[in-house]
Amino acid sequence: MHSTARSFFVLFSKRKNSAPSQQRLAGFSLALLPRFPTSMLRDPFEHAALVQRIQSECFAEDIEPPADSLGWTEEELHAFFESGGDELPLRFAETPGVPVRIIPAGMRARVFVISDMHCDHAQNFGWIQQRLPASSSGCFDVCVCCGDVSDNLGVLRQALGVLRARFDEVFFTPGNHELWVRKEPPGTTSLDRIETVRRLCEEKRVRVAPLRLCSAESGSDGCRLDDLLLVPLHSWYHSSWDREPGMEAGGPDSELRKAMPGVGMWTDHQLCKWPPHLANDEARALHFASLNRELVDSLAAALPPSAGRPPPPAWDKRATYAEYGQKPMTDELWTSFDASTFFTPRQGGAGAGAGAGAGAGAGAGAGAGAGAAVAAAAAAAARPAGRPFTISFSHFVPRQELLPEKRMLIMADLHKVSGSDHLEAQLRQLMPDVHCFGHTHIPMDLTLDGVRYVQWSLGTPREQKGQTRVVFGPMRIYDGSTGGELPQHWCHWTRHYELYARDLSRTAAAPYLQSYLARSRGNGYAARVVG
Ligand SMILES: [Fe+2]
Ligand SMILES: [Fe+2]
Repeated sequence: MHSTARSFFVLFSKRKNSAPSQQRLAGFSLALLPRFPTSMLRDPFEHAALVQRIQSECFAEDIEPPADSLGWTEEELHAFFESGGDELPLRFAETPGVPVRIIPAGMRARVFVISDMHCDHAQNFGWIQQRLPASSSGCFDVCVCCGDVSDNLGVLRQALGVLRARFDEVFFTPGNHELWVRKEPPGTTSLDRIETVRRLCEEKRVRVAPLRLCSAESGSDGCRLDDLLLVPLHSWYHSSWDREPGMEAGGPDSELRKAMPGVGMWTDHQLCKWPPHLANDEARALHFASLNRELVDSLAAALPPSAGRPPPPAWDKRATYAEYGQKPMTDELWTSFDASTFFTPRQGGAGAGAGAGAGAGAGAGAGAGAGAAVAAAAAAAARPAGRPFTISFSHFVPRQELLPEKRMLIMADLHKVSGSDHLEAQLRQLMPDVHCFGHTHIPMDLTLDGVRYVQWSLGTPREQKGQTRVVFGPMRIYDGSTGGELPQHWCHWTRHYELYARDLSRTAAAPYLQSYLARSRGNGYAARVVG
């Protein structure tokens, strides 16, 4: 017996001498129903009948099937009872409390990610109607949406409807915009808004809870062709997440920043309404993290432990654009000024990793020096047997290295309202293969300390001319029909931090900020970033 299967056997010991009844099995299965209806999940009564039939055929009425057997193929159920309960499906780890949906035979999973669609803008609503990936026969398509669709519930409902009409599964976690309280009766809080959004998602059959997605079929190695775990995580930002030096105190940049439109304004402070016990952002960050705790603890205990994965192969700018049928105008990173006078080259050169100034660990851009196939094989081999390919997602940012330094930003205070240490701590527990996030409208794709972090945000129409221009459509991050995980995408800031250090000793505002003030109009640094 496979060693992984053996450990499952210990977890789910047989209950001899307990004759199963139709009623007990049916009740057992019903308890596993997901919070949202799923058309493809095996009907629990059918499952109970199937189990009874196979038990009878195998003379195994005294053996009870494990909790996740609702997601097993008939062949696997047969093998389990035939073996006297010893043979569990190879490399299929239990994820307690997480419903399983079976991907029909003959289909392969594809997962697309997008954040910050801000569909209040008519142009953005048009974008989601025109830029969603085409469906393809044999593909079971999943969309992960990391929040900030709209603060307007009507627009949110419509936008989620567009996604549901296109994808087989849609996942959502609310952003700060969904928590704005505008037209509700007095006394309504942002926590009430979350509940309203949850009900709306339930109505639209959009998932806000985790799900295991497994192929009905296994490969020659005994693994499911696709075995995915999708985990939405709650989060909220807290200002102590920012541990980098401020840009506001003293110096010429101080006056520069004060003069910039938008600095110092943060709409959440006006439109989010909190009960007294969540009056400050530190309490809020803890509260939202506490909502994940039970789930993260149980998954971390149940899944085979992972020390993380190496960076995936990396696409250059041309390959990334080509994924969306586009061609970049130039392959260069910075075009409007001499980058060497403002940035500090990284020790070790390109591909050595991001965030060295903040003490970050492993590198991005694994493509350098290693063949893509080698990197892909290394990433797959790093996942212990039994672990599904795990994609978690949140709206807010787990690590400060995922946000450019303050001297690069029009709004340096973005660092005070973007991230959560509690979220990152939970990711270290969970160790997903990929964590997707949003909020800052700054696309990123890099691997830090064994986790691939991805932000693929649409942002406002103005940002689409600059900092988010590479987002031509939702990012295809997993595709079972092409070998699983897709390579790291080219993003302006990912590439920047491959080439230049996070140098906190430099405080002069980047030149595009200087010119932004000089022009006194709204193009911002976006106009100077070649994406
Ligand atoms: Fe946003
Ligand atoms: Fe946001």
